Amino acid sequence: MELKGKIIVVTGAASGIGQAMCQRFAAEGAKHIACVDLNLEGAQATASEIGGTAYGVNVGVADEIVQLIETVERDIGPIDLFCSNAGISVAGGVEVPDDDWQRIWDINVMSHVWAARALVPLMSARGGGYLLNTSSAAGLLNQVGSAPYGVTKHAAVGLAEWLAMTYGDQGIKVSVLCPQAVRTEMTRGHEDHVAAIDGMMEPEPVAEACVQTIRAEEFLVLPHKEVINYMRAKTDNYDRWIGGMRKLNRRFGEIET
Ligand SMILES: NC(=O)c1ccc[n+]([C@@H]2O[C@H](COP(=O)([O-])OP(=O)(O)OC[C@H]3O[C@@H](n4cnc5c(N)ncnc54)[C@H](O)[C@@H]3O)[C@@H](O)[C@H]2O)c1
Repeated sequence: MELKGKIIVVTGAASGIGQAMCQRFAAEGAKHIACVDLNLEGAQATASEIGGTAYGVNVGVADEIVQLIETVERDIGPIDLFCSNAGISVAGGVEVPDDDWQRIWDINVMSHVWAARALVPLMSARGGGYLLNTSSAAGLLNQVGSAPYGVTKHAAVGLAEWLAMTYGDQGIKVSVLCPQAVRTEMTRGHEDHVAAIDGMMEPEPVAEACVQTIRAEEFLVLPHKEVINYMRAKTDNYDRWIGGMRKLNRRFGEIET
């Protein structure tokens, strides 16, 4: 799909990857971009730079997503592309308190469910639409030092696959973004973390990879090309892959046993 002339919603637009998506989509000639974030001031800064509209929304609350989609469809027009990009990280293992598991689950997974629930009927009725869901390389390869992040990002990939296989015949296109480390607020001070083992990418090439993948209407957005080889190694020999991940955990993990 070409982005020129399209109405686009981006969550997590105040900062990092979401902000870069807004800038890059605007450069492609998008008709209008709704810049959505919990941080309204940050969303306003992004929106004013690109002539978009800012919305202060907590994507971890179902009603707020439903209301956002209703408002954008009413005030701006039919949404062509919805980017569920806002996400958080929570460090730790199974000891992480349930409230924190629930919070990251709602933001990293349920926000994608709620957006799809509201948009699939609308998009299907008009012959199609596009969902771009931000997961992570951690959604394919897991995350040393963070069970909640690794698990929720896997769930985000699983949901994106499910949406693609279930609604593809209704014209719904789905892509899932799975980068390794990107230089944003989320990774500030973590330059020596395991996710940055292959280096830190700037947000701009990540947004560029999104544009190229959406143009090609392909499922997987992989800004870090090495991720496909790690995936191949995993499917080739799962036990050897777990052994390699244990080595990384010994080197980088901070989980107490
Ligand atoms: N930075 C990386 O290395 C990296 C790698 C892989 C995937 N990701 C994913 O990319 C996405 C964007 O992260 P980023 O690196 O740009 O981080 P970031 O912290 O720079 O941006 C995330 C934005 O999401 C917003 N946000 C957080 N919770 C929200 C909520 N409940 N409702 C609305 N907005 C909320 C924040 O205010 C922030 O502006 C996330 O889903 C993250 O998991 C990041």
